[in-house]
Amino acid sequence: MSGGWQAVDEYIAGKLLGDDEALAATLANNEAHGLPPIDVSAAQGKMLFLLAQIAGATRILEVGTLGGYSTIWLARALPEGGELVTLELEPHHAAVARENLDRAGVSSKVDVRVGPAADSLAAMVDEAPFDFVFIDADKQSNALYVDEAIRLGRCGTTIVVDNVVREGGVLDVDSDDERIIGTRALFDMLSADTRLDATAVQTVGAKKWDGFVLARVL
Ligand code: SAH
Ligand code: DHB
Ligand code: MG
Repeated sequence: MSGGWQAVDEYIAGKLLGDDEALAATLANNEAHGLPPIDVSAAQGKMLFLLAQIAGATRILEVGTLGGYSTIWLARALPEGGELVTLELEPHHAAVARENLDRAGVSSKVDVRVGPAADSLAAMVDEAPFDFVFIDADKQSNALYVDEAIRLGRCGTTIVVDNVVREGGVLDVDSDDERIIGTRALFDMLSADTRLDATAVQTVGAKKWDGFVLARVL
C-alpha cells in the first residue's frame, strides 16, 4: 500500500508543485554529502510554505535544519525583509545547508545557528517574536522545543511539529525508544498546557505513515 502513497505524492507533485531546480539540487547535494533522506516531502514542504504565508509570517524559527530543504520552502514564504532562524546540531549538516540556501537564493534571509538547539534557544532572549515555528530535530526534546517556541512567540504564533506519529509508534506505552517517549511527552504536554490550542493530523505519502502537530499560541 505504501507504493500507492508514493504514487499519489508523485501525482500531487506533478499537478501542484512543478519542477524546482533549487530543491532538486538540494536533495542531490544532501545525498552526495551523506545526509540522510529525512527531509519533509515536496507536498509537505509546500504545505509549510502555505501555512507560513497564511500566518503572515515575517519571522520564522526552525529547529532541525539538515540540508535546508524545509528551510528553503519556509524562507520562500517570507516577504521582503523577513527573517528565518534555523538551528542545527551538526556542523556538517549546517555547511551543506548553507550551500543549498545559497543556490536557492535565500541565504540573506536565513541565519543558520550551529549547536544543540536547547542551548541556541536558551541564548535567544532579545529577539522579536517569531510568527511561525517548525520543530523537526531530536524527537526526545519536542516538549522542550514547544515550551521555548511559546516563550519566543506571541499570541497567535503557529507551531508545527514533524514526525509525531511514526507509523503508529506513538501508541507504544512501553517503548524504550527515546523518540517515542519524547513524542508521548509532547502529547502529554500539549494536552495539559493552557497556553496553546493543538491538534495532530496523520499523513501518508513519500514519508510513509507519520503526522504533524499543529498548534496556535493563545
Ligand atoms: N527540517 C529538515 C529535516 C531535519 S532532520 C527538512 O525537512 O529538510 C533533523 C535534523 O535535526 C538533523 O539534521 C539533525 O542533525 C538535527 N538535530 C538532531 N538533534 C539536534 C539538536 N539537539 N539540536 C539541533 N539539531 C538537532
Ligand atoms: C527522522 C527524523 C525526521 O525529522 C524525519 O522527518 C524522519 C526521520 C529520524 O530521525 O529517523
Ligand atoms: Mg522530520
